[in-house]
Amino acid sequence: MGIEWKDYFARRTKNITGSQIRHFFALTERPDVISFAGGFPGNDYFPFEDISNSLAHLVREDGRQALQYSPTEGNYELRKFLGEKMSRDGKLCGADNLIITDGSQQGLDLLGRVLINSGDPVLVEEPAYIGGMSAFKSYGGITVGIDMDCEGPIPASMEQTINKYSKAGKQPKVFYTVPNFQNPTGITTSLKRRYEILATVSRYNLIIIEDNPYGDLCYEEDTPLSYKALDREDRVLYLGSYSKVLIPGIRIGWLAGPGPLIEKVTMAKQTADLCSSSLGQQLACRLSREGYVDRHISRLRKAYRQKRDAMICSMEQHFPAGVTFTRPGGGFFIWVNFPAYYPSSSELLDLALQQNVAFVHGEGFSSNGGGRHSARFSFSQPCIEDIVSGIRILGDIFWEVEANCSVRVADH
Ligand SMILES: Cc1ncc(COP(=O)(O)O)c(C=O)c1O
Repeated sequence: MGIEWKDYFARRTKNITGSQIRHFFALTERPDVISFAGGFPGNDYFPFEDISNSLAHLVREDGRQALQYSPTEGNYELRKFLGEKMSRDGKLCGADNLIITDGSQQGLDLLGRVLINSGDPVLVEEPAYIGGMSAFKSYGGITVGIDMDCEGPIPASMEQTINKYSKAGKQPKVFYTVPNFQNPTGITTSLKRRYEILATVSRYNLIIIEDNPYGDLCYEEDTPLSYKALDREDRVLYLGSYSKVLIPGIRIGWLAGPGPLIEKVTMAKQTADLCSSSLGQQLACRLSREGYVDRHISRLRKAYRQKRDAMICSMEQHFPAGVTFTRPGGGFFIWVNFPAYYPSSSELLDLALQQNVAFVHGEGFSSNGGGRHSARFSFSQPCIEDIVSGIRILGDIFWEVEANCSVRVADH
Protein backbone atom coordinates (compact mmCIF):
# COMPACT_ATOMS: atom_id res chain seq x y z
CA MET A 1 0.00 0.00 0.00
CA GLY A 2 1.38 3.40 -0.98
CA ILE A 3 1.98 6.01 1.70
CA GLU A 4 -0.53 8.89 1.84
CA TRP A 5 2.13 11.56 2.26
CA LYS A 6 -0.30 14.33 3.00
CA ASP A 7 -1.27 12.53 6.22
CA TYR A 8 2.35 12.79 7.35
CA PHE A 9 2.80 16.51 6.68
CA ALA A 10 2.89 18.84 9.69
CA ARG A 11 -0.17 21.10 10.05
CA ARG A 12 1.88 24.22 9.35
CA THR A 13 2.70 22.95 5.84
CA LYS A 14 -0.80 23.77 4.71
CA ASN A 15 0.50 27.33 4.30
CA ILE A 16 3.27 26.15 1.98
CA THR A 17 1.93 26.22 -1.52
CA GLY A 18 3.62 26.37 -4.93
CA SER A 19 3.90 29.60 -6.84
CA GLN A 20 2.46 29.94 -10.32
CA ILE A 21 5.88 31.19 -11.38
CA ARG A 22 7.44 27.76 -10.89
CA HIS A 23 5.11 26.52 -13.59
CA PHE A 24 6.72 29.01 -15.97
CA PHE A 25 10.27 27.88 -15.36
CA ALA A 26 9.53 24.80 -17.45
CA LEU A 27 8.19 27.03 -20.22
CA THR A 28 11.27 29.22 -20.28
CA GLU A 29 13.33 26.14 -21.02
CA ARG A 30 11.32 25.24 -24.11
CA PRO A 31 13.39 26.53 -27.03
CA ASP A 32 10.30 27.23 -29.15
CA VAL A 33 8.81 29.65 -26.60
CA ILE A 34 9.75 33.32 -26.37
CA SER A 35 9.38 33.82 -22.66
CA PHE A 36 8.86 37.12 -20.88
CA ALA A 37 7.78 35.08 -17.85
CA GLY A 38 10.81 34.21 -15.72
CA GLY A 39 12.63 36.91 -13.78
CA PHE A 40 16.05 35.32 -14.21
CA PRO A 41 19.13 37.31 -15.16
CA GLY A 42 20.21 36.95 -18.79
CA ASN A 43 22.58 33.97 -18.76
CA ASP A 44 24.43 35.36 -21.78
CA TYR A 45 25.80 37.95 -19.36
CA PHE A 46 27.29 35.51 -16.89
CA PRO A 47 31.05 36.15 -16.82
CA PHE A 48 32.00 32.51 -17.37
CA GLU A 49 35.72 33.02 -17.98
CA ASP A 50 36.28 35.45 -15.13
CA ILE A 51 34.31 33.33 -12.65
CA SER A 52 36.15 30.16 -13.53
CA ASN A 53 39.55 31.88 -13.31
CA SER A 54 38.65 33.45 -10.00
CA LEU A 55 37.37 30.16 -8.59
CA ALA A 56 40.55 28.38 -9.67
CA HIS A 57 42.71 31.01 -7.94
CA LEU A 58 40.54 30.95 -4.88
CA VAL A 59 40.78 27.20 -4.41
CA ARG A 60 44.51 27.20 -5.09
CA GLU A 61 45.36 30.16 -2.86
CA ASP A 62 42.73 30.00 -0.15
CA GLY A 63 41.27 26.51 -0.44
CA ARG A 64 41.53 25.67 3.26
CA GLN A 65 39.06 28.41 4.06
CA ALA A 66 37.02 28.43 0.87
CA LEU A 67 36.21 24.72 1.05
CA GLN A 68 35.56 24.67 4.80
CA TYR A 69 32.36 25.58 6.70
CA SER A 70 32.18 29.27 7.56
CA PRO A 71 30.64 31.07 10.56
CA THR A 72 26.83 31.11 10.49
CA GLU A 73 26.75 34.90 10.28
CA GLY A 74 29.08 34.72 7.27
CA ASN A 75 32.62 35.44 6.19
CA TYR A 76 33.92 38.43 8.18
CA GLU A 77 35.75 40.04 5.23
CA LEU A 78 32.63 39.95 3.08
CA ARG A 79 30.47 41.36 5.88
CA LYS A 80 33.04 44.10 6.48
CA PHE A 81 33.12 44.94 2.77
CA LEU A 82 29.32 45.03 2.53
CA GLY A 83 28.99 47.07 5.73
CA GLU A 84 31.48 49.65 4.42
CA LYS A 85 29.80 49.78 1.03
CA MET A 86 26.40 50.29 2.62
CA SER A 87 27.79 52.99 4.91
CA ARG A 88 29.30 54.84 1.91
CA ASP A 89 25.80 54.80 0.40
CA GLY A 90 24.43 56.35 3.59
CA LYS A 91 23.07 53.12 5.10
CA LEU A 92 25.19 53.07 8.25
CA CYS A 93 26.10 49.47 8.94
CA GLY A 94 28.94 47.53 10.55
CA ALA A 95 29.94 43.90 9.99
CA ASP A 96 28.16 42.93 13.23
CA ASN A 97 24.86 44.23 11.93
CA LEU A 98 24.96 42.05 8.89
CA ILE A 99 24.42 38.36 8.16
CA ILE A 100 25.15 36.56 4.90
CA THR A 101 22.23 34.50 3.57
CA ASP A 102 21.62 32.00 0.77
CA GLY A 103 20.32 34.72 -1.54
CA SER A 104 17.90 37.31 -0.24
CA GLN A 105 15.18 34.66 -0.49
CA GLN A 106 16.63 32.98 2.58
CA GLY A 107 16.67 36.37 4.30
CA LEU A 108 12.94 36.65 3.64
CA ASP A 109 12.32 33.15 4.93
CA LEU A 110 14.37 33.71 8.10
CA LEU A 111 12.61 37.01 8.75
CA GLY A 112 9.28 35.24 8.34
CA ARG A 113 10.46 32.67 10.84
CA VAL A 114 11.60 35.11 13.52
CA LEU A 115 8.96 37.82 13.06
CA ILE A 116 5.67 36.31 11.95
CA ASN A 117 3.12 34.54 14.12
CA SER A 118 0.39 32.48 12.55
CA GLY A 119 -2.50 34.83 11.70
CA ASP A 120 -0.38 38.01 11.69
CA PRO A 121 -1.28 40.50 8.98
CA VAL A 122 1.83 41.39 6.93
CA LEU A 123 1.59 44.56 4.86
CA VAL A 124 2.93 44.16 1.33
CA GLU A 125 2.75 46.16 -1.85
CA GLU A 126 -0.24 45.54 -4.13
CA PRO A 127 0.98 43.86 -6.31
CA ALA A 128 4.02 42.31 -4.59
CA TYR A 129 6.92 39.89 -5.15
CA ILE A 130 5.47 36.39 -4.95
CA GLY A 131 8.53 34.87 -3.24
CA GLY A 132 8.33 37.42 -0.41
CA MET A 133 4.64 36.78 0.13
CA SER A 134 5.15 33.01 0.03
CA ALA A 135 7.87 33.24 2.68
CA PHE A 136 5.59 35.14 5.07
CA LYS A 137 2.58 32.97 4.30
CA SER A 138 4.56 29.81 4.99
CA TYR A 139 4.76 30.96 8.64
CA GLY A 140 1.03 31.67 8.74
CA GLY A 141 1.28 35.38 7.88
CA ILE A 142 -1.65 36.90 6.02
CA THR A 143 -0.47 39.29 3.34
CA VAL A 144 -2.47 42.49 3.00
CA GLY A 145 -1.86 44.66 -0.06
CA ILE A 146 -1.17 48.39 0.13
CA ASP A 147 -2.26 50.13 -3.08
CA MET A 148 0.45 51.65 -5.24
CA ASP A 149 0.58 54.42 -7.81
CA CYS A 150 3.48 55.49 -10.01
CA GLU A 151 5.28 56.90 -6.93
CA GLY A 152 5.08 53.69 -4.91
CA PRO A 153 2.91 52.53 -2.01
CA ILE A 154 0.21 55.06 -1.05
CA PRO A 155 0.55 56.23 2.59
CA ALA A 156 -3.21 56.84 2.98
CA SER A 157 -3.92 53.25 1.91
CA MET A 158 -1.34 52.06 4.41
CA GLU A 159 -2.84 54.13 7.22
CA GLN A 160 -6.36 52.96 6.45
CA THR A 161 -5.26 49.32 6.43
CA ILE A 162 -3.34 49.64 9.69
CA ASN A 163 -6.37 51.24 11.35
CA LYS A 164 -8.71 48.56 10.03
CA TYR A 165 -6.57 45.72 11.35
CA SER A 166 -5.77 47.47 14.62
CA LYS A 167 -9.46 47.94 15.32
CA ALA A 168 -9.89 44.20 14.87
CA GLY A 169 -7.13 43.63 17.47
CA LYS A 170 -4.53 42.65 14.83
CA GLN A 171 -2.10 45.57 14.73
CA PRO A 172 0.28 44.89 11.81
CA LYS A 173 3.97 45.07 12.65
CA VAL A 174 5.73 44.49 9.34
CA PHE A 175 5.68 46.23 5.95
CA TYR A 176 7.54 44.42 3.14
CA THR A 177 8.64 46.52 0.18
CA VAL A 178 10.81 46.36 -2.96
CA PRO A 179 11.35 50.11 -3.43
CA ASN A 180 13.62 50.03 -6.51
CA PHE A 181 12.37 48.74 -9.89
CA GLN A 182 9.86 46.63 -8.04
CA ASN A 183 9.13 43.04 -8.91
CA PRO A 184 6.53 42.86 -10.52
CA THR A 185 5.70 46.46 -11.59
CA GLY A 186 9.11 48.06 -12.20
CA ILE A 187 7.94 51.04 -10.08
CA THR A 188 10.50 52.93 -7.99
CA THR A 189 9.19 54.54 -4.82
CA SER A 190 9.91 58.29 -4.93
CA LEU A 191 11.99 59.92 -2.21
CA LYS A 192 8.99 61.89 -0.98
CA ARG A 193 7.01 58.69 -0.61
CA ARG A 194 9.84 57.03 1.26
CA TYR A 195 9.74 59.85 3.82
CA GLU A 196 5.94 59.59 4.07
CA ILE A 197 5.97 55.80 4.44
CA LEU A 198 8.71 56.03 7.09
CA ALA A 199 6.66 58.62 8.99
CA THR A 200 3.60 56.35 8.79
CA VAL A 201 5.37 53.21 10.00
CA SER A 202 6.96 55.25 12.76
CA ARG A 203 3.57 56.59 13.88
CA TYR A 204 2.13 53.07 14.06
CA ASN A 205 5.30 51.37 15.23
CA LEU A 206 5.78 49.02 12.28
CA ILE A 207 9.12 47.84 10.94
CA ILE A 208 10.09 47.82 7.24
CA ILE A 209 11.65 44.94 5.33
CA GLU A 210 13.42 46.66 2.43
CA ASP A 211 14.29 44.17 -0.32
CA ASN A 212 16.67 45.65 -2.88
CA PRO A 213 18.00 43.12 -5.40
CA TYR A 214 17.59 45.43 -8.43
CA GLY A 215 18.70 48.87 -7.15
CA ASP A 216 22.13 48.75 -8.81
CA LEU A 217 20.62 47.91 -12.19
CA CYS A 218 19.56 51.47 -12.98
CA TYR A 219 19.45 52.58 -16.61
CA GLU A 220 18.85 56.28 -16.10
CA GLU A 221 19.36 58.22 -12.89
CA ASP A 222 20.43 56.69 -9.57
CA THR A 223 17.75 55.44 -7.22
CA PRO A 224 16.55 57.64 -4.31
CA LEU A 225 18.10 57.16 -0.87
CA SER A 226 17.08 53.85 0.65
CA TYR A 227 14.69 53.49 3.58
CA LYS A 228 17.68 52.13 5.48
CA ALA A 229 19.63 55.36 4.82
CA LEU A 230 16.67 57.56 5.77
CA ASP A 231 15.77 55.60 8.90
CA ARG A 232 16.65 57.25 12.20
CA GLU A 233 14.86 54.75 14.44
CA ASP A 234 16.44 51.39 13.55
CA ARG A 235 13.19 50.12 12.12
CA VAL A 236 14.46 49.08 8.68
CA LEU A 237 15.77 45.62 7.84
CA TYR A 238 17.66 45.67 4.54
CA LEU A 239 18.13 42.77 2.12
CA GLY A 240 20.75 42.77 -0.64
CA SER A 241 21.82 40.14 -3.14
CA TYR A 242 24.53 39.19 -5.63
CA SER A 243 22.02 37.27 -7.76
CA LYS A 244 21.12 39.98 -10.23
CA VAL A 245 24.41 41.91 -10.28
CA LEU A 246 26.78 38.94 -10.52
CA ILE A 247 25.29 35.41 -10.63
CA PRO A 248 22.46 33.72 -8.72
CA GLY A 249 24.26 30.36 -8.78
CA ILE A 250 26.46 31.24 -5.78
CA ARG A 251 23.29 31.96 -3.73
CA ILE A 252 24.78 34.86 -1.78
CA GLY A 253 22.70 37.66 -0.29
CA TRP A 254 22.73 39.58 2.96
CA LEU A 255 20.51 41.01 5.64
CA ALA A 256 21.42 44.16 7.56
CA GLY A 257 19.57 45.20 10.71
CA PRO A 258 19.82 45.97 14.42
CA GLY A 259 21.92 43.67 16.64
CA PRO A 260 19.13 41.80 18.48
CA LEU A 261 17.41 40.98 15.18
CA ILE A 262 20.62 39.78 13.52
CA GLU A 263 21.38 37.65 16.58
CA LYS A 264 17.98 35.93 16.41
CA VAL A 265 18.20 35.44 12.65
CA THR A 266 21.67 33.91 13.08
CA MET A 267 20.24 31.35 15.51
CA ALA A 268 17.46 30.57 13.05
CA LYS A 269 19.96 30.18 10.21
CA GLN A 270 22.02 27.77 12.26
CA THR A 271 19.22 25.23 12.10
CA ALA A 272 18.50 25.98 8.46
CA ASP A 273 21.91 25.41 6.88
CA LEU A 274 24.72 26.05 9.43
CA CYS A 275 26.23 28.56 6.99
CA SER A 276 26.00 29.87 3.44
CA SER A 277 28.40 28.50 0.83
CA SER A 278 31.95 29.37 1.90
CA LEU A 279 33.11 29.16 -1.70
CA GLY A 280 30.36 31.50 -2.86
CA GLN A 281 31.10 34.00 -0.09
CA GLN A 282 34.83 34.03 -0.82
CA LEU A 283 34.18 34.47 -4.51
CA ALA A 284 31.76 37.34 -3.92
CA CYS A 285 34.23 38.92 -1.50
CA ARG A 286 37.19 38.64 -3.86
CA LEU A 287 35.31 39.97 -6.90
CA SER A 288 33.76 42.80 -4.88
CA ARG A 289 37.02 43.93 -3.33
CA GLU A 290 38.83 43.87 -6.67
CA GLY A 291 36.15 46.23 -8.07
CA TYR A 292 35.11 43.52 -10.54
CA VAL A 293 31.46 43.51 -9.42
CA ASP A 294 31.14 47.27 -9.99
CA ARG A 295 32.65 46.97 -13.47
CA HIS A 296 30.30 44.08 -14.24
CA ILE A 297 27.34 46.15 -13.06
CA SER A 298 28.30 48.90 -15.55
CA ARG A 299 28.29 46.32 -18.36
CA LEU A 300 24.95 44.90 -17.21
CA ARG A 301 23.36 48.35 -17.10
CA LYS A 302 24.23 48.94 -20.73
CA ALA A 303 23.05 45.52 -21.87
CA TYR A 304 19.75 45.50 -19.94
CA ARG A 305 19.04 49.12 -20.90
CA GLN A 306 19.03 48.06 -24.55
CA LYS A 307 16.62 45.23 -23.80
CA ARG A 308 14.32 47.49 -21.81
CA ASP A 309 14.32 50.05 -24.63
CA ALA A 310 13.59 47.34 -27.20
CA MET A 311 10.62 46.08 -25.18
CA ILE A 312 9.14 49.52 -24.47
CA CYS A 313 9.66 50.66 -28.05
CA SER A 314 7.99 47.49 -29.40
CA MET A 315 5.08 47.83 -26.97
CA GLU A 316 4.57 51.45 -28.06
CA GLN A 317 4.62 50.36 -31.67
CA HIS A 318 2.50 47.19 -31.50
CA PHE A 319 0.11 47.34 -28.53
CA PRO A 320 -3.30 49.00 -28.85
CA ALA A 321 -3.47 52.34 -27.01
CA GLY A 322 -5.76 50.92 -24.32
CA VAL A 323 -3.03 48.50 -23.20
CA THR A 324 -0.85 50.57 -20.87
CA PHE A 325 2.47 49.72 -19.27
CA THR A 326 5.08 51.02 -16.84
CA ARG A 327 8.40 52.45 -18.04
CA PRO A 328 10.88 51.28 -15.40
CA GLY A 329 14.18 53.12 -14.95
CA GLY A 330 15.95 49.85 -14.14
CA GLY A 331 15.55 46.22 -13.07
CA PHE A 332 13.91 43.50 -15.15
CA PHE A 333 10.15 44.09 -15.15
CA ILE A 334 7.38 45.93 -16.98
CA TRP A 335 3.81 45.79 -15.67
CA VAL A 336 1.11 45.74 -18.31
CA ASN A 337 -2.51 46.76 -17.67
CA PHE A 338 -5.23 45.61 -20.05
CA PRO A 339 -8.59 47.36 -20.48
CA ALA A 340 -11.35 45.96 -18.26
CA TYR A 341 -13.33 44.86 -21.35
CA TYR A 342 -10.54 42.45 -22.39
CA PRO A 343 -10.65 38.80 -21.33
CA SER A 344 -8.65 38.13 -18.15
CA SER A 345 -4.86 38.16 -18.41
CA SER A 346 -4.78 34.39 -17.83
CA GLU A 347 -7.06 33.93 -20.87
CA LEU A 348 -4.77 36.26 -22.83
CA LEU A 349 -1.83 34.15 -21.70
CA ASP A 350 -3.53 31.04 -23.11
CA LEU A 351 -3.84 32.80 -26.46
CA ALA A 352 -0.20 33.89 -26.25
CA LEU A 353 0.99 30.37 -25.46
CA GLN A 354 -0.78 29.08 -28.57
CA GLN A 355 1.63 31.36 -30.45
CA ASN A 356 4.60 30.31 -28.29
CA VAL A 357 4.96 33.53 -26.30
CA ALA A 358 4.77 33.61 -22.48
CA PHE A 359 4.33 36.22 -19.76
CA VAL A 360 2.99 35.97 -16.20
CA HIS A 361 -0.62 36.91 -15.58
CA GLY A 362 -1.20 39.26 -12.67
CA GLU A 363 -3.35 37.39 -10.16
CA GLY A 364 -0.52 35.64 -8.33
CA PHE A 365 1.07 38.96 -7.37
CA SER A 366 -2.06 40.23 -5.65
CA SER A 367 -3.12 39.87 -2.01
CA ASN A 368 -6.46 41.53 -2.61
CA GLY A 369 -7.88 39.43 -5.45
CA GLY A 370 -6.63 41.92 -8.07
CA GLY A 371 -4.39 41.46 -11.09
CA ARG A 372 -7.08 39.98 -13.37
CA HIS A 373 -6.30 42.54 -16.03
CA SER A 374 -2.57 42.89 -15.49
CA ALA A 375 0.56 40.95 -16.37
CA ARG A 376 4.28 40.97 -15.66
CA PHE A 377 6.70 41.08 -18.58
CA SER A 378 10.39 40.48 -18.00
CA PHE A 379 12.96 41.65 -20.57
CA SER A 380 16.04 40.25 -18.83
CA GLN A 381 16.40 36.88 -20.54
CA PRO A 382 15.27 36.91 -24.17
CA CYS A 383 17.55 38.41 -26.81
CA ILE A 384 16.55 41.69 -28.47
CA GLU A 385 15.33 39.98 -31.67
CA ASP A 386 13.04 37.73 -29.60
CA ILE A 387 11.80 40.69 -27.57
CA VAL A 388 10.83 42.52 -30.74
CA SER A 389 9.17 39.55 -32.42
CA GLY A 390 7.46 38.32 -29.20
CA ILE A 391 5.91 41.73 -28.57
CA ARG A 392 4.82 41.97 -32.22
CA ILE A 393 3.06 38.59 -31.91
CA LEU A 394 1.33 39.71 -28.71
CA GLY A 395 0.38 43.02 -30.35
CA ASP A 396 -1.40 41.08 -33.12
CA ILE A 397 -3.25 39.01 -30.51
CA PHE A 398 -4.33 42.12 -28.55
CA TRP A 399 -5.53 43.88 -31.72
CA GLU A 400 -7.62 40.84 -32.55
CA VAL A 401 -9.04 40.81 -29.03
CA GLU A 402 -9.78 44.51 -29.45
CA ALA A 403 -11.60 43.86 -32.74
CA ASN A 404 -13.66 41.05 -31.19
CA CYS A 405 -14.57 43.24 -28.23
CA SER A 406 -15.79 46.05 -30.47
CA VAL A 407 -17.83 43.58 -32.58
CA ARG A 408 -19.48 42.40 -29.37
CA VAL A 409 -20.18 45.99 -28.27
CA ALA A 410 -21.65 46.76 -31.73
CA ASP A 411 -23.90 43.64 -31.53
CA HIS A 412 -25.54 44.93 -28.37
C1 LIG B 1 12.19 41.15 -5.16
C2 LIG B 1 13.00 39.92 -5.01
N1 LIG B 1 13.47 39.59 -3.79
C3 LIG B 1 14.21 38.50 -3.61
C4 LIG B 1 14.51 37.66 -4.65
C5 LIG B 1 15.34 36.44 -4.38
O1 LIG B 1 16.60 36.57 -4.92
P1 LIG B 1 17.88 35.79 -4.42
O2 LIG B 1 17.45 34.83 -3.38
O3 LIG B 1 18.41 35.10 -5.63
O4 LIG B 1 18.79 36.82 -3.88
C6 LIG B 1 14.04 37.94 -5.94
C7 LIG B 1 14.32 37.03 -7.06
O5 LIG B 1 13.85 37.14 -8.14
C8 LIG B 1 13.28 39.12 -6.13
O6 LIG B 1 12.80 39.47 -7.33
